Amino acid sequence: MRVNRRSVYLSCICAVILVVTLTWTVWTHMANSPSSAAGSKRDHSLDYFLKKGTIQERDAADVNWYHAANSKDKINEALEGPAQMIEADVLLRGHDPKEPIMAHPPYTDSDITLQDWLSVVVTSDKGIKLDFKSLAAVEPSMALLEEARAQLEGPVWINADILSGPGGLATPLDAQAFLQEVALRAEGDVLSLGWTTGWSPDTDNPGYSWEMVQQMEAICRPLRQPVTFPVRAALLPQSFPQLQWLLQQSDRYTLTVWTGQRDVLNVEDLLPYRQNFNKSRIYYDLLESQISKFKALPRYN
Ligand SMILES: *[C@@H]1O[C@H](CO)[C@@H](O)[C@H](O)[C@H]1NC(C)=O
Repeated sequence: MRVNRRSVYLSCICAVILVVTLTWTVWTHMANSPSSAAGSKRDHSLDYFLKKGTIQERDAADVNWYHAANSKDKINEALEGPAQMIEADVLLRGHDPKEPIMAHPPYTDSDITLQDWLSVVVTSDKGIKLDFKSLAAVEPSMALLEEARAQLEGPVWINADILSGPGGLATPLDAQAFLQEVALRAEGDVLSLGWTTGWSPDTDNPGYSWEMVQQMEAICRPLRQPVTFPVRAALLPQSFPQLQWLLQQSDRYTLTVWTGQRDVLNVEDLLPYRQNFNKSRIYYDLLESQISKFKALPRYN
């Protein structure tokens, strides 16, 4: 009799635990569903680097960048170095054979093609960011990327300026044409979609306007990929409400703060971004001296 009562009591406890667990599972699943409902994805780059052990927390500021790995020497240096992400520029060679090469305008030739560049990158576990400077290079490059994809271990980011931004004089790539080439073929990639910009010393440089961020958001809303918006550091102080609004529109969105080599940048101006946004959502592709100054600020953490 006593034994029976005890087993009834234990069964009740088990049932309660089961119900609580089920409710919790269903509830957390539902809480997460808005972002997964449309089949869209968050950026998993940080998860990848955490798993590799090359960063210790979900802090995008701990991801280091190697810039303009546009030659054999530079890509080899990048692969041996500590940076988790390697950025390089892609355009079509200016003469025959007109294939995708690693070069930044005004250069029109390079000692390394995208194909050879990818064949070295696949030997490493680093992430890559391909910056497209011409629409003509996109289609053949995506085909090469597709061939290398099975062997590429790290995150792949595809970048282009697709809208005119503050002070931007360069012509952006045609947004629809660019997305048509990449959006379907880059299902698992991060799309890095930016504005052309300009910056001049000793004048009031305008920031990203409401119209600019709204136009960008309208383009990105139907995409399924995670999107990062490359934003010019020196223009951030005058763009806070606009960029805050932009990040709030989807948890697929992140910022990648970059700087022009000659821009005058006060790293303290980046603190409002650091302090008001989730640290997993802002990457900092800055000069090494700026990064260390930024991280040494008392209010950095
Ligand atoms: C930041 O975002 C991650 C999801 O990417 C979440 O797990 C974490 O709780 C957030 N941190 C804060 C402080 O909100």
